[in-house]
Amino acid sequence: MMECSWKVLLLIVFTSLGIQYTAIKSLRMNFTSPCRNVAENRCGHIKDNVTRVLCEDINGQQGRKHILILATARSGSSFLGQLFNQNSDIFYLFEPLYHVQSMFTNANGLPTIDRRSLLGAYRDLLHNLYDCDFYLLENYIKPAPKGHITSSFFRRGSSKALCSPPVCNQSQEVQENQCLKSCRKINLTLASTTCRSYKTIAIKTIRIPEINHMRTLVEDPRLNLKIIHLVRDPRAILASRISTFVDQYRSYQIWNSSGRRPHNADLSLIRNTCTDYSNSVETAFSRPSWLKGKYMLVRYEDLAKDPIKKANEIYNFLGLQWKEGLSSWIEENTNATVSPNFNKFGTIRKSSETIENWRLHLHLSIVQTIQDVCNTTMAQMGYQLVDNIQQLKNLSQSLVEPRTFLPFI
Ligand SMILES: *[C@@H]1O[C@H](CO)[C@@H](O)[C@H](O)[C@H]1NC(C)=O
Ligand SMILES: *[C@@H]1O[C@H](CO)[C@@H](O)[C@H](O)[C@H]1NC(C)=O
Ligand SMILES: *[C@@H]1O[C@H](CO)[C@@H](O)[C@H](O)[C@H]1NC(C)=O
Ligand SMILES: *[C@@H]1O[C@H](CO)[C@@H](O)[C@H](O)[C@H]1NC(C)=O
Ligand SMILES: *[C@@H]1O[C@H](CO)[C@@H](O)[C@H](O)[C@H]1NC(C)=O
Ligand SMILES: *[C@@H]1O[C@H](CO)[C@@H](O)[C@H](O)[C@H]1NC(C)=O
Ligand SMILES: *[C@@H]1O[C@H](CO)[C@@H](O)[C@H](O)[C@H]1NC(C)=O
Ligand SMILES: *[C@@H]1O[C@H](CO)[C@@H](O)[C@H](O)[C@H]1NC(C)=O
Repeated sequence: MMECSWKVLLLIVFTSLGIQYTAIKSLRMNFTSPCRNVAENRCGHIKDNVTRVLCEDINGQQGRKHILILATARSGSSFLGQLFNQNSDIFYLFEPLYHVQSMFTNANGLPTIDRRSLLGAYRDLLHNLYDCDFYLLENYIKPAPKGHITSSFFRRGSSKALCSPPVCNQSQEVQENQCLKSCRKINLTLASTTCRSYKTIAIKTIRIPEINHMRTLVEDPRLNLKIIHLVRDPRAILASRISTFVDQYRSYQIWNSSGRRPHNADLSLIRNTCTDYSNSVETAFSRPSWLKGKYMLVRYEDLAKDPIKKANEIYNFLGLQWKEGLSSWIEENTNATVSPNFNKFGTIRKSSETIENWRLHLHLSIVQTIQDVCNTTMAQMGYQLVDNIQQLKNLSQSLVEPRTFLPFI
């Protein structure tokens, strides 16, 4: 017990300074084992206050699952996120890191801090949110919340938990498009206490470039964090970005209709996407011990082809209970004959049939340029290259190789 408590004290000193060294992690690991026996008869018996608080902390986290959906823009993450949001046992947040990024972006859309610091801020916020602490987030919300109350919570409507009582001051759950209006301001203290009543917290983000940036969180034994890494054919991502972000991709539209690449067509974004993918899968395929049991790679194409089967695999990997209603939600939202009216950020229509439709909407010249930029990444993930217009436009020949990416367990 003596040994246990001096380590705890040290730990508290370090943690309160906000230092996240590996030493702390190993202290914490050493700490859990001697105190776990104590935890069995609950923490109330522990005389030493500091030890008791930490014991309660660890106890409180035990059994709670934390999930990160790591994706890129236009890769299908809204749909994947819905597999969690539609489950009322899960507290789901849609892109809370948006607030951090916008705080550190100037009027010209350029970052005001370096990438390393930004990634650190992302990690800190994620850690706090997984602990159901919404107060750190307040520092990034504009205008600053008063008395923990704000009306500027990014995409609140995309989180059922934030549009349902008690966080929403209504008698029952409010639909996504009515949430802001009906639920009005959000009380972040109440969001925190409500979050604590959930056993599973899932957060979706497109702002963490690669899994290596998440290592310190994955290694933190308090977090029990698992990552679902969503990838998609970079050619399909680009086609979707061109038609969604019209202003930003003007030069690509000219390229697409003329077949000639304008000088100002910027390839760096798609190149970065591919580099990030490669860095992640190379790390994952090398099976480092820190990722064991923590990482699953999902190709959007496989999810779209057979959503219920893939969703089941994801739930199994995460150790989550399938929820009644999930199957029917998936069927309704992947089947255009049933439900034709979603928006671009909604979900996928007739998903199994439309998944390779980008091939009809992208000029061969763009396709070949991306293939040059991304050839290694595409080979790693099983996306076939095309040489000519016949191959590109013949949809009866899929470009998605059948591959099984077994989770590393
Ligand atoms: C934790 O315990 C292991 C094995 O008992 C030991 O090798 C290691 O040095 C300890 N770490 C710390 C920081 O006390
Ligand atoms: C420990 O906590 C108890 C009750 O929570 C309190 O009465 C006591 O003063 C605390 N002891 C110290 C040393 O802080
Ligand atoms: C909730 O709504 C009711 C009626 O609209 C209002 O009287 C009450 O003050 C609201 N409570 C909070 C905490 O906003
Ligand atoms: C916010 O929620 C907390 C916890 O339920 C409550 O104590 C507090 O009074 C609420 N604040 C406002 C302004 O309603
Ligand atoms: C889509 O909906 C139609 C009409 O309800 C139904 O016949 C068909 O089996 C559904 N397809 C899938 C894949 O769910
Ligand atoms: C590219 O051009 C073709 C033919 O003009 C058009 O059908 C397609 O929608 C365009 N693609 C995008 C992504 O705008
Ligand atoms: C990708 O292209 C480069 C340069 O053209 C080539 O050296 C490399 O072998 C290609 N890689 C794959 C996997 O095709
Ligand atoms: C498309 O591909 C299929 C399968 O490889 C082939 O049988 C068919 O002839 C092709 N169609 C055209 C128009 O090239």
